Amino acid sequence: MAMRLATVRTTTDEQVAAQSASPWWRTAVVYQVYLRSFADSNGDGIGDLAGLRSRLPYLSWLGVDAVWINPHYPSGGADGGYDICDYRAVDPEYGDVSDLEALVADARDLGLRVVLDVVPNHTSDRHPWFQAALADPDCPEAARYHFAPPSEEPPNNWQSLFGGPAWSRTPDGRWYLHLFAPEQPDLNWRDPAVAADFERTLRFWLDRGVSGFRVDVAYGLFKDPGLRDNPGAYSPTLFGHGPEQAMTWNQPEVHDVWRRWRSICDEYPETMLVGEVCLADPQEVALYSRPDEMHQSFCFRLLKSPWSTASFADGVRSALDAFGRVGAPVSWVLGNHDKDRQVTRFGGGAVGTARARAAALLVLSLPGSAYLYAGDELGLPQADVPDEAKRDPIFFRSGGARSGRDGCRVPMPWNTEPGVGFSPAGTAQPWLPIPGDWDRYAVSRQTRDGGSVLTLYRRALALREAHPALGSGDATVSTRGDVLTVRCTGADGSVIRCVVNMGSGTALVRSRGTVLLASSTTVRRSPASVALPPDTAVWLADS
Ligand code: GLC
Ligand code: CA
Repeated sequence: MAMRLATVRTTTDEQVAAQSASPWWRTAVVYQVYLRSFADSNGDGIGDLAGLRSRLPYLSWLGVDAVWINPHYPSGGADGGYDICDYRAVDPEYGDVSDLEALVADARDLGLRVVLDVVPNHTSDRHPWFQAALADPDCPEAARYHFAPPSEEPPNNWQSLFGGPAWSRTPDGRWYLHLFAPEQPDLNWRDPAVAADFERTLRFWLDRGVSGFRVDVAYGLFKDPGLRDNPGAYSPTLFGHGPEQAMTWNQPEVHDVWRRWRSICDEYPETMLVGEVCLADPQEVALYSRPDEMHQSFCFRLLKSPWSTASFADGVRSALDAFGRVGAPVSWVLGNHDKDRQVTRFGGGAVGTARARAAALLVLSLPGSAYLYAGDELGLPQADVPDEAKRDPIFFRSGGARSGRDGCRVPMPWNTEPGVGFSPAGTAQPWLPIPGDWDRYAVSRQTRDGGSVLTLYRRALALREAHPALGSGDATVSTRGDVLTVRCTGADGSVIRCVVNMGSGTALVRSRGTVLLASSTTVRRSPASVALPPDTAVWLADS
């Protein structure tokens, strides 16, 4: 936020003082770029850093504060880049370190910050450490993973989150632990060499001007020292992990890692850490963002909430309460590269789109930071990816029972030409097939359409920037039947209500205030009230 102040003409000195006292990340809108799918500069069908760099003006025009890039490192390619072979390099498919530096510099010129993804729970099986450990069980690198001697049965009942046992065998019969794919061996964080190497990695990128890291599987890293059986099984339908998985996640020692990483970031002004903490209990999630740990941890509650006032109100209240207790902002998430696209989750088609539009107004009104997943601002649905084109290990390891995450990772449609502008015209096939009708969602089309999802996002982001009640106020949540209201009060005393109708009939909201923004043109204003059709939301400035 601080970097954008110069462009806000009406800011008073007091506001400047208040804003600069509040670090940028507390209220930032961070745009998540799935690098492989964002923009391909050289026509190999794979998004890359130069492609992203060329699209930075779009992100600045949209009005976000920062860009978080999914892993850009050399990778074994088994899990969309989350199996890393070299933490201090760039995968040649994406460019090189100088491209990353150029990206950071261009972003800065536009008032944007760059946040990288770091993956400390596991490496690739092609990482030199794991390769050394395979070749020689007694080498120092072997102690950096979890190996167990050959035996009939695996050491315990732990399961991979991608399906099947969490233990696989080496060619010489030993077991090794992988809580994700077999190509992602888990690191042993009790070996000090692991911690030391990650500290080098953080500094390597911080020295290149990045503004921080999204920390993958931040609730992992340490495991039960006795490798005891987990008491129960994980189900992806839960909000996150809980006591049933007590031996694999959320070990107390992990908090010391975040204290150490925080102290490193403190040496680099205005940098931050945001953790992926998939625990069911919001209070446990918030503990990862105590004042001396990570600056933020994602609130995934709304990502798994069905479209109902009870679920959304509970998701918002429980997060405001939990993060409020530790003094951290809530980091709201409605979509990412691991979940079905919002439009589809909320029912698909016109209904799903209307709900996604309304949900955007809801999260962008709430105090805290908001993480937007590339393509959600276009209202992209989950794409149908044919099985033969799929890449996600979840699909393969579940024997096809789980459809996997490819459908939310399909390349961005930029224009209405063949190939929708993802790659230079007339070049290679995109790495995942783009549905034939995606020109309808193209950026070029939506920028010209005053009623598009993109226009709605852009207006919402501009209003959020301009009104202290939005994104940085105090919020209270109430429900009346199918109507959810968030009342946001700014530091200047201004009040904006975000009212969402989650029911099937029109809702009348009493108000003489101004309609700042409506999620749909079907919202009607009369002198003393506003009529909200089903699945719409409105921002009301009450005078
Ligand atoms: C995180 C990532 C996901 C990845 C997993 C293993 O959950 O968001 O994409 O598969 O970690 O690294
Ligand atoms: Ca490329």
